[in-house]
Amino acid sequence: MNIFRTKNTLQTFLDEARNTQQRIALVPTMGALHEGHLSLINEAKQIADVVVCSIFVNPTQFNDPTDLERYPRPEQNDLQLLQKIGCDAAFLPSIEEMYTPMEKRWHLDLGNLEKVWEGEKRPGHFQGVTQIVYKLFRLVEPDVACFGQKDFQQVMVIQRLIDLKKLPITLHICPTVRNEKGLALSSRNTRLSEAGKQKALALYRALSHIKRHFNDHELDNLRQEALSILEQEGEIEVEYLAICETRSLQEIDQIDPTKKHVALLVAWVEGVRLIDNMLLD
Ligand code: PAJ
Repeated sequence: MNIFRTKNTLQTFLDEARNTQQRIALVPTMGALHEGHLSLINEAKQIADVVVCSIFVNPTQFNDPTDLERYPRPEQNDLQLLQKIGCDAAFLPSIEEMYTPMEKRWHLDLGNLEKVWEGEKRPGHFQGVTQIVYKLFRLVEPDVACFGQKDFQQVMVIQRLIDLKKLPITLHICPTVRNEKGLALSSRNTRLSEAGKQKALALYRALSHIKRHFNDHELDNLRQEALSILEQEGEIEVEYLAICETRSLQEIDQIDPTKKHVALLVAWVEGVRLIDNMLLD
């Protein structure tokens, strides 16, 4: 596997790939890789000739400086995993490589997507995400970019970035990887005790309940039923649970058969913020 730490060296490598008409896929990550991330690389390998995985803990998308500081950075382990799975190139830039001291102010009109759910709870977060992803898109110029459905709102935001900037990039959405019991994989899960992991399964049960009864229960009741599944488990604090239309992420009070729907859930277990979702149609 090729390891690059500068934009120039990565670009030289990619120029060669492009000159030989190879399809390029980009998988942006912040490292601390697990099976969820690796599934993105695997899918990318199926649809492209050259797979680039970026590992960059992006400071502009963190609202909380201690969260940024505490973010795990197991570089050697990440590189070994990427090597083993057959990723072609890893890009691990420094902060200085990605941001200049005189950085131009970044603002993208994300509309409602920035006002609801993660946008509301984490002000500026999606501006930071789009800022770094746009830099990576311009640098790598991938044919496809792979993102996980796990961060549903992020996927919608990236699609908007692609649309607004008119980029010739296909967004490939990869399904959420879960453990054998249903818990969505996340680097944050390592901060849960065994009992906490067990408790966190209630998120999956609540979302599965909504999916199972989406067409035969009143939406209001359905949401309440899912909330009581979480409540019955105990010691789970729900931040939000919403049944939404997938594009705008507006909460719905009636199913529109011409549209697609998703249940979004954020809940806290043992002081860890867990995010999950499920497509309903
Ligand atoms: P990070 O949290 O490292 O996630 C990188 C990618 O892995 C994202 O597309 C995310 O949705 C996906 N992912 C995480 N857990 C997953 C799981 N259990 N199943 C499937 N996919 C999963 O998301 C970011 O980094 C950053 O915001 C980034 C896009 C890299 C910009 O800095």
